[in-house]
Amino acid sequence: MKKDSEDFKKYNQQIHSTRVSFLKSSGINYFMTESDPKKLHAFLLVWTAMSIQMTERVEDWIKRAGENCTNKNFTEVGEKLQYHSKQEADHDKMLVTDVNFLIEKWNKVYNDTLTLNDLFKIGTLPETQYYVDLHENVINSQHPYCQTAIEFEIERISVVYGPRMIDNLLFILGDDFEPGISFLAEHVLLDQGHTKFNIDLMEKCLAAKASLSEMVKTGSDALTIYAGFLNHCIKISHSLLERTQWNSHLAN
Ligand SMILES: [Fe+2]
Ligand SMILES: [Fe+2]
Repeated sequence: MKKDSEDFKKYNQQIHSTRVSFLKSSGINYFMTESDPKKLHAFLLVWTAMSIQMTERVEDWIKRAGENCTNKNFTEVGEKLQYHSKQEADHDKMLVTDVNFLIEKWNKVYNDTLTLNDLFKIGTLPETQYYVDLHENVINSQHPYCQTAIEFEIERISVVYGPRMIDNLLFILGDDFEPGISFLAEHVLLDQGHTKFNIDLMEKCLAAKASLSEMVKTGSDALTIYAGFLNHCIKISHSLLERTQWNSHLAN
């Protein structure tokens, strides 16, 4: 394995406190430790539905960041990003398949009539908008290579936390939920390779005199926004639980 450069070591040191805050945040811990099947099902369902809007533009973001990197003389990083963008195409479609399975299961188990449209009516969460804005600001800035810091931090979540998330989900909800977590399961595998690729890109950016402070700031912002997004999914899942309590109240 290639040794980390001094600059990449500095990056990891400077972003460490934000990674620790993420580790302690409630959303990621809900995934890994919630033991009530109904609460966990509601949360997984909401997270899957809300993740569609977080994921559908990924290919476009990476492609455009790559083009702007090339224009700013980060040519190798730019070309690699443009190539990589294709590997992220249509991943939001996995989420649509998953959420439909989870809704069907929810309606059967909890005697509800939830539809995907009910969830889409929630609209765009503020954290999703911050996430979109973060990408747009980076792509159009003097430092479009900072896209690599977003990719690195977000895809690292699947690698670091993914196996424990899946363990808890299948242990609490049952193995028959496997068709409802295809996006997550697939990303635990895919993002191992993508994380290696991201590290290589981070090193290339830093070797080409990228701004370390901008990279740290962008990576930290992505993690903080994503923690907020997960927390918001918990709040929405609570309304889903109240809705079924109301339904069962009406049935009695
Ligand atoms: Fe993906
Ligand atoms: Fe990926």
